[in-house]
Amino acid sequence: MKRSKRIETLDKRPVNLDGYINEWPEMGFTAMSSPYDPKPSIKVEDGKIVELDGKQRKDFDFIDQFIADYAINIEQTQHSMSISSLEIARMIVDIHVSRQEILKLITGITPAKMTEVMNHLNVVELMMGMQKMRARKTPGNQAHITNLKDDPVQIAADAAEGALRGFAEEETTMGVARYAPLSAIALLIGSQVGRPGVLTQCSAEEATELELGIRGLTTYAETLSVYGTEKVFIDGDDTPYSKAFLNSAYASRGLKVRFTSGSGSEVLMGSSEKKSMLYLECRCLYATKGAGSQGIQNGSVSCIGITGSVPSGIREVLAENLVAALLGLECASSNDQSFSNSDMRRTARTMLQFLPGTDFIFSGYAAEPNYDNMFAGSNFDAEDFDDYNVLQRDMQVDGGLRPVTEEEVIRVRNKAARAVQAVFKHLHLSPVSDEQVEAVTYAHGSKDTPDRDVTADLMAAEDVLKRGITGIDIVKALAETGFKDVANSVLNMLKQRVIGDYMQTAAILDKEFHVLSGLNTANDYMGPGTGYRVEGERWEEIKKIPHIINPQDI
Ligand code: 5AD
Ligand code: CA
Repeated sequence: MKRSKRIETLDKRPVNLDGYINEWPEMGFTAMSSPYDPKPSIKVEDGKIVELDGKQRKDFDFIDQFIADYAINIEQTQHSMSISSLEIARMIVDIHVSRQEILKLITGITPAKMTEVMNHLNVVELMMGMQKMRARKTPGNQAHITNLKDDPVQIAADAAEGALRGFAEEETTMGVARYAPLSAIALLIGSQVGRPGVLTQCSAEEATELELGIRGLTTYAETLSVYGTEKVFIDGDDTPYSKAFLNSAYASRGLKVRFTSGSGSEVLMGSSEKKSMLYLECRCLYATKGAGSQGIQNGSVSCIGITGSVPSGIREVLAENLVAALLGLECASSNDQSFSNSDMRRTARTMLQFLPGTDFIFSGYAAEPNYDNMFAGSNFDAEDFDDYNVLQRDMQVDGGLRPVTEEEVIRVRNKAARAVQAVFKHLHLSPVSDEQVEAVTYAHGSKDTPDRDVTADLMAAEDVLKRGITGIDIVKALAETGFKDVANSVLNMLKQRVIGDYMQTAAILDKEFHVLSGLNTANDYMGPGTGYRVEGERWEEIKKIPHIINPQDI
């Protein structure tokens, strides 16, 4: 066939490198509804749910049972289920119906009903819903802080810069798992250099992660995965009960915890029971709520390639974020793993959470170049910082970040690198050379830094665990090596664990260690003139992008 040059040109566009698939409900490839999704129903007898979404109690799997026993408000359910899904959908977008009223009503609906409600909302209505239902009044943002070499000095510098740029939470993970203790220490120190009060997490194998948390080397945990079918849950060696225990283990030691779920995982793991991705994700979110977790990281997350490939998939991602908010959960709304070769498409996808604002618009913005992202690439990287800042300015939207100056970036990166150098020396861990401090200060990524002695690092990492080094040892080391202010910040992070207020829904800390949560600074949006508005100091900050013409200077 003679080819059209027009079509040939289009064929080569990045968007056509992405994968797309038609709906195929038998294999779970359907975003928001499947002909096999159950019809909503509830039956309560003697204070017990005996029928849930068309299933009798004797036929419940462990997810149904967990939801029936822990995630639905029995006093409320008859009333909530008697209201039509369309009516509930309308209340969600009605500015005259308050968030509190919706939250109460939602406690009584079932996962199948929730799925129906979401199907009545178009993408703009889903955004309207999120604007009202987000837990915390102010939106926030979370960063990935990782690198290809697991270089702790770079982790500290990147964490400091990320904190300076506005991230309220920072998480790391490793290429080589045994690096975890050094990564956690570097992240803790670096974050507090950049901006006191930033929460940190080290995503590792469960026992290690818990131990690092208990020792005060991290302040939150996030990757407690839940799944929407029993088969997939068991394949991960877990049940809703085991996840609830793990949640309690963290919480009992004063760590903030959220679960992780997201559509597409059941499809990817070959056991979707022919249900829609949204229905299965609703089950995950109800299990999260039932387990008593304050929040969730969701929005397909690492499975976005699947959800993004089907019709209405990106709308579904926002719908599952909104379901989390409707259940009163903190929502760290993904925008995490990269899913598209098209800059237009990846930006458009992010706008759905960016415009209404979520508790964490990204649950993993890569604050390093793509090649250094050990969580697999993110939808936005360090190269996109200025684009993002301009988007905030263009639309007068608070995306949780702020423009910074080159001087500040160099200053905090250098201080963080020196602090890690001093702490490692003081604790007799692996050496950090002046040359490395210098390289990391000015580096974009690990291609710009000298290699570390991996054997020495891994021995030091093991030593941290063996010697029982805790957050207090880090505080002492900082204080005794001239980093009193950083020592004080790390100490304050440890105090939070005793106070416990930052375990409330959607909590973050400001630079004075005040808690901002869905409890003490709840979202009170009820239409124009209410809720969070970008104004005053924050608006001035957002406006100050680099590369700007100042008329007064001309
Ligand atoms: N469902 C459940 N857990 C997920 N994670 C990422 N995406 C999902 C999902 N869709 C969790 C996994 C992974 C970590 C980065 O987040 O635990 O290891
Ligand atoms: Ca994350």
